[in-house]
Amino acid sequence: MSNALRVGVVGHGNIATIAQLPTLVTRDDVEMAALVSILPDPEPVKRRWGFQNAYPTLEAALDAQELDAVFILTPRSEHLAMTKTALEAGVDVFCEKPLATTAAGAQMLAETAEKNGRILQVGFNRRFAPVYAAAHDSFGETGASFCVAQKNRAGSEYRATFENAIHMVDLVRWFCGGEPVEVTAYAAGEDKWQEDGISALIHFDNGHTGVVVGARNAGGWNERLDAYGQMTSASVVAPDSVTITRPEGTSLREMTPENFGWATATETMGFAGAVHHFLDRVRDRGVPLVSGAEAVKTQQLLERILEVSGLPTDEQPGRVWSSHAKK
Ligand SMILES: NC(=O)c1ccc[n+]([C@@H]2O[C@H](COP(=O)([O-])OP(=O)(O)OC[C@H]3O[C@@H](n4cnc5c(N)ncnc54)[C@H](O)[C@@H]3O)[C@@H](O)[C@H]2O)c1
Repeated sequence: MSNALRVGVVGHGNIATIAQLPTLVTRDDVEMAALVSILPDPEPVKRRWGFQNAYPTLEAALDAQELDAVFILTPRSEHLAMTKTALEAGVDVFCEKPLATTAAGAQMLAETAEKNGRILQVGFNRRFAPVYAAAHDSFGETGASFCVAQKNRAGSEYRATFENAIHMVDLVRWFCGGEPVEVTAYAAGEDKWQEDGISALIHFDNGHTGVVVGARNAGGWNERLDAYGQMTSASVVAPDSVTITRPEGTSLREMTPENFGWATATETMGFAGAVHHFLDRVRDRGVPLVSGAEAVKTQQLLERILEVSGLPTDEQPGRVWSSHAKK
């Protein structure tokens, strides 16, 4: 394709392999121009995804190539410096969540994108998951009066709420609308760096109320959201089903093969939709649904929840998050 977008990808771990890389290779308007890899031999990864070139650093890739967009898919410790470098080099950026390790860092990146006229999108993929999008649509512009979002797992991790429950904080903001005015929150567990979970109640300036639960001592993995308002109830069991009930009746959409083909989590969790949305914004220069500025608001609310619950708002000195991925 003559006006193909020349794309660079930094990091090819767990999420890149599930989400962005398999989506990018389906686009015939994308050139897989540059892989940035810290592997001593990146050749097999480069070959697997059809990259034209591989580089050991983002700086080397930017020096060697004219790129339109870069995907930063590394651990969060790397997001700030890499996103800033790419934006200042005049390249649009898709960065995985969280955009930075602090809300102030995220704010600086959103401002850098603005100043440089760049598109910046953050990986809050749930907003593109068909089940969450359908539930959100059912409340229109007004939003939901009440929203309860839960992401529960068997097993904690370093800064579990910050790393993981962040998706639910973003969804509650998106569903309720308005700006948060009051936050009550409690953390559970002895270890503030690896908590057993969190619960938070958020009151928004439009009168709406959100509740976030992120239990990390649950018996299993689940993710669900219930929202109410305007004589509508929406209930999501992610990523499998959404039920919408109004006085006149109930509709149920299930992401079964019969209804949705043989889709994987790449589609059902909204990862593919997020990539397509970003590339569309790179082309039309519109504001992404989860722009840098939107992501800052989610991170500011998350930081407030952490503060109120007594959890740390910055990294533990000397400790870095690492993925649970096997490879
Ligand atoms: N949206 C979601 O639902 C979701 C799910 C999982 C992870 N994530 C986010 O995705 C990001 C990556 O997580 P992951 O699970 O894929 O981690 P991972 O450890 O599996 O992969 C990280 C990749 O980054 C590379 N990398 C690390 N430092 C680098 C550097 N300095 N230069 C170049 N490459 C470097 C690693 O080699 C690896 O390929 C994190 O920010 C995480 O929060 C998002």
